[in-house]
Amino acid sequence: MTAPQSNPHPVRVAMFSAQPYDRRFFEEARAAGGPGRGDIAIDYHDTALDIGTAVLAQGCGAVCVFVNDVLDAAVLERLHGGGVRAILLRCAGFNNVDLAALARLGMFAARVPAYSPEAVAEHALAMILTLNRHTHRAFNRVREGNFALDGLLGFTLHGKTAGIVGTGKIGLATARILRGFGCRVLGYDPYPSPAFEALGSMVPLDELLELSDIVSLHCPLTEATRHLVSHATLGRMKAGAMLVNTSRGALVDTAAVIEALKSRRLGALAIDVYEQESALFFRDHSSDIIADDVFGRLTSFPNVLITGHQGFFTVEALREIAAITFDNLACWRSGGACANMLPSPD
Ligand SMILES: NC(=O)c1ccc[n+]([C@@H]2O[C@H](COP(=O)([O-])OP(=O)(O)OC[C@H]3O[C@@H](n4cnc5c(N)ncnc54)[C@H](O)[C@@H]3O)[C@@H](O)[C@H]2O)c1
Repeated sequence: MTAPQSNPHPVRVAMFSAQPYDRRFFEEARAAGGPGRGDIAIDYHDTALDIGTAVLAQGCGAVCVFVNDVLDAAVLERLHGGGVRAILLRCAGFNNVDLAALARLGMFAARVPAYSPEAVAEHALAMILTLNRHTHRAFNRVREGNFALDGLLGFTLHGKTAGIVGTGKIGLATARILRGFGCRVLGYDPYPSPAFEALGSMVPLDELLELSDIVSLHCPLTEATRHLVSHATLGRMKAGAMLVNTSRGALVDTAAVIEALKSRRLGALAIDVYEQESALFFRDHSSDIIADDVFGRLTSFPNVLITGHQGFFTVEALREIAAITFDNLACWRSGGACANMLPSPD
């Protein structure tokens, strides 16, 4: 990406997909003070960014976006035409950004590469424990006076093998917690991970799939990882294993996973992310008729647990996201070096 441009003037930022908690943590971070936080106006829009809503950023110097905002070439061009020169991602993943268009337009773009990896790792563990010991079902049963244990049978996590696909920050944090539970951990990553070697063994993906009782995905979504979990990879997994995805929905071919659940080859599925989540997540649809039949099928399985992309959702992580986003903005405005800029296109 291009170097930051010096911009000492007051700046207006259009924040898309802004939820009440975003406003709360960004306003708290602004009130706490820090470089360049005083002369910024933030327009909070609850709508997502796409080609139809990009006009809301007209006259703003920067936009602040989240995981399901669309930043393809057409949207970036429209933003650029309206005066936007900086893209501030308040998330780690940037699979929703067209890097080539960004470079062509010479726009600044920075993300929050790490904000409490433990927050996401702990959520992965919450999902594993809930799904395995059925605490979500027990909670409802007990409230109805039903103390029968039938259907709540789990397995002892101690001594099981957990496979971590992607041994970066969140994968490592997840491996550390699983080690604490007495699991043997295996890791797969195309890049060497010496830190992981202290916790477990790095193995080829096929070996990890064959040996793991739990497979947890912690790699980014790229063209190489799209549908990493497919008919073929599901076929290599240990029969009855649990699959956990807290990374990005499109790592998993949902149709293939539904087939594997129906054939009982896949034992259980925990997902915090879903390939078509942008139409559903972060909104209250409890009074709507949900048209997504694939999602509807997923919710019908007793051995599927779904949360709505909340892995990041802790006080500590939201504080960190707001603080680092303001730092990234200050970097752009000062023209200084910014360690969090998105990489150049391949
Ligand atoms: N659910 C949530 O709320 C939430 C929050 C933050 C991040 N995430 C997701 O978690 C992912 C991981 O985050 P992180 O901070 O650990 O990132 P990271 O960059 O520290 O680690 C990602 C690792 O994946 C590895 N990798 C790349 N290609 C791979 C492949 N083909 N197979 C296996 N591994 C591969 C990389 O080498 C790296 O070690 C992010 O990309 C994001 O999609 C989800």
